[in-house]
Amino acid sequence: MQAARIVVDRDFVLSDLDRRVFGAFVEHMGRCVYGGIFEPGHPTADAQGFRGDVMALTRELGPTIIRYPGGNFLSGYNWDDGVGPREQRPVRRDLAWFSTETNAFGTNEFMDWCRKAGVEPMFGVNLGTRGPEEARRFLEYCNHAGGSAMSDLRRAHGQADPHGIKFWCLGNEMDGPWQICHKTAEEYGRTALETAKVMRWTDPTIQLAACGSSHRNMATYGAWEYAVLDHCFDEVDFISLHTYFRNDADEIREYFGVIELMDAFIKEVVAICDAVAAKRRSYKRIMLSFDEWNVWYRTHQIEHMRKPGWPVAPPLIEEVYNMEDALIVGGALITLLNNADRVKAACLAQLVNVIGPIMTETGGAAWRQTIFHPFAQAARFGHGRVMQARVTSPAYAAKSFPEIPYLHTAVVDNPADGSTAIFALNRHLNEPLELTAELRGLGSDRTLVLASELQHPQLKTVNTRQTPDAVAPRTNPDVAVAGERITARLKPASWNVIVTRAAPRTS
Ligand code: AHR
Repeated sequence: MQAARIVVDRDFVLSDLDRRVFGAFVEHMGRCVYGGIFEPGHPTADAQGFRGDVMALTRELGPTIIRYPGGNFLSGYNWDDGVGPREQRPVRRDLAWFSTETNAFGTNEFMDWCRKAGVEPMFGVNLGTRGPEEARRFLEYCNHAGGSAMSDLRRAHGQADPHGIKFWCLGNEMDGPWQICHKTAEEYGRTALETAKVMRWTDPTIQLAACGSSHRNMATYGAWEYAVLDHCFDEVDFISLHTYFRNDADEIREYFGVIELMDAFIKEVVAICDAVAAKRRSYKRIMLSFDEWNVWYRTHQIEHMRKPGWPVAPPLIEEVYNMEDALIVGGALITLLNNADRVKAACLAQLVNVIGPIMTETGGAAWRQTIFHPFAQAARFGHGRVMQARVTSPAYAAKSFPEIPYLHTAVVDNPADGSTAIFALNRHLNEPLELTAELRGLGSDRTLVLASELQHPQLKTVNTRQTPDAVAPRTNPDVAVAGERITARLKPASWNVIVTRAAPRTS
């Protein structure tokens, strides 16, 4: 029997939690937009063509912010193709995914969709084929009230009120040779600086994210972040991180190591940001936007990313997730929470069909993939502030990471309603973990609100249209609360959420 312990104390708070870490991503790619969130004629579609079943599942998933419109698509996208009367919008060839883009869906449709879904938008500007002037014009179109050419154009398009979009990405993965108009760090750093300047002058209330590395394994990793920030440090708020987890060896004990590598990635990028600050003797802190992350390896080959004949919305990278992947996504969420002092935004990539937690049939059903569940629970119960948990756990050694504790955990406390959520991954494959958690000073009159486990003895189990709930959270009967102490038995290879509540506190 394995045992592990968590101690938190009301005086040891890591950080307030920025709920934008529970973001997602909608790209004009495959069936994410067309056949995903937007499908006129679908039995559940509303008058604007937004799928009602996908909307309902999005609300249940609970993303707080959604990145749009790409992705690699962004680097060849003309925002002005996607606004105005639909019948006048041009049909284009998209060089990112070798698909035909009809532009039937664009900025104003996405903003209407966001309002209905109750999410904040995170927009990107094209710094591949375009540059600062188009970024400025687009921002003016979106955020200026009226009385200028671009804002009046928006009003003429039936959007009287400005969109008020706060979060803007300065391009996408500009370090990647696959990117349309890839740049060197020097080229991108200069462009990002000049674009940031004109965007801030256009709307001083916005927040800006510069592109970091597409992956920690990029040859330019580290040097890229330093060089880019050396140019644009004073004008940006965030640097981005992207990562897609792989299980190439099909060995879950090794696969669990990617969660530790994500943590290392974050801490390394923080160190680089702070090195740039130190060189300038600046107290400004650049925050991290982990704005693409997920499991993606089964469909990472070119034949899954391109279909011949320039089709409209072909099925691309429709990864089917299993129980193992849900554990990885749950573990990654814990890592994001435990870096809440510097990670202030993050996006699960993507939302629907394209490496998505939601899967649909065009014209048919929609269902929850396995990875839907840890995300939905973290977004629902992760409110307030992340505590500095002192964790004691046995560990194992792997090739992917030298020391992997069986218990991976984060504790989020919400003084507003007195609740405290423990998110806990048991990475032991065969043995349960006997967990003891002491919540010191957070209220001793605790009651159990939720004891949930995501677990399946067959780790390759997937959710399908026919078996949509094969992997789903169930109640864990082995959880007890006594005063400030919680005890629980966590099943092997399980992701767990335990929520207890004391009387609401004022501090
Ligand atoms: O999410 C799929 C693709 O992965 C995105 O378009 C790109 O930014 C990343 O390489």
